Amino acid sequence: MKIAVIGLGYVGLPLATLLAEHFEVTGYDRSTGRIKELESGHDKTLEVTPEVLRKTSMKFTDSIEGIKDCNFLIVTVPTPVDEKNNPDLGPIEGASNEVGAILKKGDIVVYESTVYPGCTEEFCVPLLEEKSGLKYGTDFFCGYSPERVNPGDKNHTIDKIVKIVSGTNQETLEKVDSVYSKIITAGTHRVSTIKAAEAAKVIENAQRDINIAFVNELAMIFNKMNIDTKEVLEAAGTKWNFLPFRPGLVGGHCIGVDPYYLAHKAVEMGYDPNIILSGRKTNDEIPRFVAQEVLKKKGEGKVAVLGLTFKENCPDLRNSKVFDIIKYLRSEGVEPLVHDPYHTELEGYKFTDLSEIQDCSVVVLAVAHDAYKEMGIMGFKQKLSAQGTLFDLKSLFDLKDAQKNEVTVWRL
Ligand SMILES: NC(=O)c1ccc[n+]([C@@H]2O[C@H](COP(=O)([O-])OP(=O)(O)OC[C@H]3O[C@@H](n4cnc5c(N)ncnc54)[C@H](O)[C@@H]3O)[C@@H](O)[C@H]2O)c1
Repeated sequence: MKIAVIGLGYVGLPLATLLAEHFEVTGYDRSTGRIKELESGHDKTLEVTPEVLRKTSMKFTDSIEGIKDCNFLIVTVPTPVDEKNNPDLGPIEGASNEVGAILKKGDIVVYESTVYPGCTEEFCVPLLEEKSGLKYGTDFFCGYSPERVNPGDKNHTIDKIVKIVSGTNQETLEKVDSVYSKIITAGTHRVSTIKAAEAAKVIENAQRDINIAFVNELAMIFNKMNIDTKEVLEAAGTKWNFLPFRPGLVGGHCIGVDPYYLAHKAVEMGYDPNIILSGRKTNDEIPRFVAQEVLKKKGEGKVAVLGLTFKENCPDLRNSKVFDIIKYLRSEGVEPLVHDPYHTELEGYKFTDLSEIQDCSVVVLAVAHDAYKEMGIMGFKQKLSAQGTLFDLKSLFDLKDAQKNEVTVWRL
């Protein structure tokens, strides 16, 4: 096997470096900047350390020609949505066209990007066939193996997450399984069709989205009733079958996006996906809800927003809902101070040094970065004015502890 990984982002790079411990691997990214950065030993996503990059045997290329000798091609390019929340298949279309142009008889193309059920064989395969002039199922084959990695999480690394595998036919499935089995210590899980594997991934994130939407709805109801949602959830959680979801912002490249892929396909098939879309709508309301509550507490004082990324301990800003909170505040004439330990520059935002954030009437702790956890409740107290309120969106701090230290906390 000569393996190529196409798209060296949050998913592709860690996968490629892991594969390179067992196989001959070439990583291809069409971004020359990204390839230069990786060749210089730096990964801006912080998923792969400089040491691993220095030691890896994998080759890097920004030219599709650089992977033409490979016979096992893994596609890990983005699958975002457009401004109308419809799937934007542009990157996967581009990658399929490029791969099609270098495809050879006997090659296997495995897609890892999150897509709707049917996308690989109905959308990507025709592009591969057209560009290569080869026939699917006779000349070349496909697999689908969704990536379930959680960037920024150093415990649930790729090797420790069971890998779902599928293939065009039994023989391809065996080959796909044999490659992933080499690197996944948690093991693989075979499914009988590519469509089923695609569906499994997309429902994992849709399920999380819907469950979070339910507790977000509870948070908005209980806020009106002056009931602490976390206390209620902890109490309800003492029942064996109560699911432990917590309210919060749902952003990023996965949970807030993937349900739209499933919804798109459902609509195409003539089904109205009410629950999926209603979950999306509820979760998208949370930034406005938070901003409105901030405005109620703000008075004449300053507002600071700590944390911009879509999740903790990760520099990924894509589709972060913290930006929506800021947008609503701005629309009401409030320009908050902003800080994030992973960023110092961003167009349209002026960052403030953490030490300069003081005397605020509201501090929104939006992302539970370790740097903020380490500050403890007293660290936040120092940033607030006497009557100030800490918006602890991640429920990091114990309410009793906050009370003891005379810090007023608002949380979802
Ligand atoms: N980030 C996550 O948390 C996560 C987790 C599981 C699954 N996924 C899925 O994995 C896929 C990739 O996500 P990501 O977060 O790694 O994206 P990313 O944006 O971090 O990386 C994608 C890379 O692909 C490159 N690229 C785009 N088009 C290309 C092309 N035609 N040829 C070669 N390279 C190309 C880009 O330059 C970029 O470096 C998506 O479908 C996503 O839904 C992501």
